[in-house]
Amino acid sequence: MSNETQSCTVKFASGQNIPLELHKVRVVQKLFLHPIERRLKAMRDAGFNTFQLSTTDVFLDMLTDSGTNAMSDNQISAMLRADDAYAGSQSFARMHAAVKEVFGTEYVLPVHQGRAAENIISQAFIKKGDVIPMNYHFTTTKAHMEINGGRLFEIYTDEALKIKSDCPFKGNIDTNKLRALIKEYSPARIPFIRLEASTNLIGGQPFSIENMREVRRIADEHGIMVVLDASLIGENAYFVKQREAEFKNTSIKDILLVMCGLSDLIYFSSRKVSSTRGGAICTNRKDLYLKVRDLVVLFEGFVTYGGMSVREIEALAVGMYETTDETVISQSPSFIAHLATKLDQRGIPVILPPGALGCHIDCMGFLPHVPQAQYPAGALAAALFIVSGVRGMERGTISSVRDDKGNDVLADVELLRLAFPRRVFTLSQTEYVLDRVTWLHQNRSLVGGLKFVDEPAVLRFFMGRLDAVSDWPEKLMAKFRADFGDSL
Ligand SMILES: Cc1ncc(COP(=O)(O)O)c(C=O)c1O
Repeated sequence: MSNETQSCTVKFASGQNIPLELHKVRVVQKLFLHPIERRLKAMRDAGFNTFQLSTTDVFLDMLTDSGTNAMSDNQISAMLRADDAYAGSQSFARMHAAVKEVFGTEYVLPVHQGRAAENIISQAFIKKGDVIPMNYHFTTTKAHMEINGGRLFEIYTDEALKIKSDCPFKGNIDTNKLRALIKEYSPARIPFIRLEASTNLIGGQPFSIENMREVRRIADEHGIMVVLDASLIGENAYFVKQREAEFKNTSIKDILLVMCGLSDLIYFSSRKVSSTRGGAICTNRKDLYLKVRDLVVLFEGFVTYGGMSVREIEALAVGMYETTDETVISQSPSFIAHLATKLDQRGIPVILPPGALGCHIDCMGFLPHVPQAQYPAGALAAALFIVSGVRGMERGTISSVRDDKGNDVLADVELLRLAFPRRVFTLSQTEYVLDRVTWLHQNRSLVGGLKFVDEPAVLRFFMGRLDAVSDWPEKLMAKFRADFGDSL
């Protein structure tokens, strides 16, 4: 087996499969683990919203993998040769060549990040009254599509929202529901079908290529476009290789080309896919390219930089090639699987099978006594930070919206996401997370709910402020001190 195709999990003599760092650390950033009293104050000051914390107070930043993956030596060195030109930059030529080779698309338009692509695609293709079928929404996707008058339909399978399942592809679209939806609304009202690789909000769950082929067939029958959100495509391709028999011996590079070849339009956040910043829209269809090109110039910048710095464009190009390297893309799923499996063995409810992006804790199962209207995922995110300095992200009702009457729309699942940015955390840090989550589970009855005190109308989870419904944070801190003494 060649070095390029090594997966990160190896068998130890004990018989255990352990994720192994197939890289060495050459640049480091000092971290601080503060006493619990400071962590509780920081959480109160942040309005019980982990987005509002300062990194000076955070020990392990597991908020997201967006823009926080470790870059490789080759990416950093590529940044030095950036060609600073408004138009016709050679940095863009290298990005174009990389995207073309890895995704197989002729046309590539850079944008400043994933949601910029969503803005442009929504403006270009969605009109009032349109419906957009998809495996599952992402927060910014939904916001952009709805602002443009679209209505989202999540047509996932019955397995998708089960916390514990042995279904390998919980990100699949239910193709019967897709057919029914097309019949009900007619193809004229469906500008495209959206497939999100490694479906973010339901635990980083992949779709299979078998499912994608069926979606493509249905789309072709009705002349509907397929749009692929490729932000987490590398990991989806990795799971296809691991879990879909037909692709067991196929390279990640070829799997990526199959997935992209089944799509009309592809967009991505390169904060994720290439471990850099920025994003892009790409396609092989000239008509689609021309339809979005002018909006890129209007909102993002000239077509050879699209709001990105040329340095990031150079790193993106290298990062695209590295997405085809199994060593790189198996790193995060291997660590996630390690943590999720161990938590499950301790009776702690987590999303299974383990997915991409992060380990996802089922907060309704963890905190059954906290009503959903008091945001169990937000409460668990706050509690874990207080007892460990680990910053996770609420992915539940706080990340949802209110309906026309001002009522909370309760989320399908209440998840605390502990993200594993690629090649950032070590195994001992992972073991620390395991330890503190286990302790918190043993003391879960001490954790109470949250309530909003300041609630923005749009994407409230970013800037909103909340408060604890009682003095449960102080009681939790007292128990921590009783159990851990002076330890951090
Ligand atoms: C699946 C998916 N799509 C789109 C986006 C939006 O990308 P960005 O944060 O770069 O705007 C994200 C970001 O996390 C994502 O996970």
